[in-house]
Amino acid sequence: MQEDFPTKKLLMWYQENKKELPWRVDKDPYHVWISEIMLQQTRIEAVKSYYLRFMEKLPTIEALTNVPLDELFKLWEGLGYYHRAKNLKKAAIMIMEKYHGEFPRTYDLILSLPGIGEYTSGAIGSICFNLPVLAIDGNVLRVYSRMYFSIEAVDDIKVKRKIEKHLLQILPKESGDFNQALMELGENICLPKGMPRCDICPIASFCQAYSLNRMLEVPKKVKKMVKKIENYTAFIFSYQDLYAIEKRKSEGLLSGLWQFPNVEGNLSLDEAKKYVGIDNVLSVKELFSYQHVFTHRIWQVQVYFVSLKKKTSFTWVDKSSIKNSYAIPSAFKKIVDWIEKN
Ligand code: ADE
Repeated sequence: MQEDFPTKKLLMWYQENKKELPWRVDKDPYHVWISEIMLQQTRIEAVKSYYLRFMEKLPTIEALTNVPLDELFKLWEGLGYYHRAKNLKKAAIMIMEKYHGEFPRTYDLILSLPGIGEYTSGAIGSICFNLPVLAIDGNVLRVYSRMYFSIEAVDDIKVKRKIEKHLLQILPKESGDFNQALMELGENICLPKGMPRCDICPIASFCQAYSLNRMLEVPKKVKKMVKKIENYTAFIFSYQDLYAIEKRKSEGLLSGLWQFPNVEGNLSLDEAKKYVGIDNVLSVKELFSYQHVFTHRIWQVQVYFVSLKKKTSFTWVDKSSIKNSYAIPSAFKKIVDWIEKN
């Protein structure tokens, strides 16, 4: 083990301060797997309730293989990136068929499961099977860049490989604890924006960025993402106490989820009235507009309320089914909230 990293201090800090989390009760790879995929999408505190509900409904890998996609999406609602939920089911089927229901135990086999990349394979491998592998996420890269005041861009794959090579030399036999300690330090102490909490950091005295008081200058990145803006007009079609929803196409963004009918472009009130016609329409009202930010794009959505004389060929549902029975992605949450309140 190299002497330039305070591994013991970090592990001791982790033992004393690690969070009690439902997926840490045992080292069952199914539990760790589901939690790690959820953690890629939102904060630890928010994941807890998703995780508990998921395990209540789908307590085993086998149960996951049998769940209808609509039900799985409902469990995933609000987490986003629904293809990840689809991949969970695909991987579960592969585990049942190829490995007779036993979660694979080597890094490469875990990595070969659908939806599992280097990070997740490293996390499962180290936490559940104590494999000598890393799990490098954004937190770990930040902690590392600060520890060594490394100004190389962490989103450059060559730089990431260099960091991996170094960390592999340091990696102690408690690989799962080491990986989680680095992540948890990044999540709770070595914070990204604003001020990291160096005053309570167990390894601050080894940190070069801290000694130079230049913590906020690293990590550096090269790529700047430009998000494409897309305009839509969404309609709340209502008939008595029912609202129209429809299933999105089976391919592409948010595929297979439910949505409110919409068209491309931000239509003015006059254009919206023209679009819906007059034959079956009692009234059209302009409601509000909102933005939804995805990883690679931004939706700008104008919303109209349209009261109809009779039902048309959509799926017609009441308020409580919108909330409880259909997976509607967060990109339409503002509309769901409006219906709930009105
Ligand atoms: N963030 C994501 N996965 C984590 C883990 N296993 N421990 C701590 N923080 C995490």
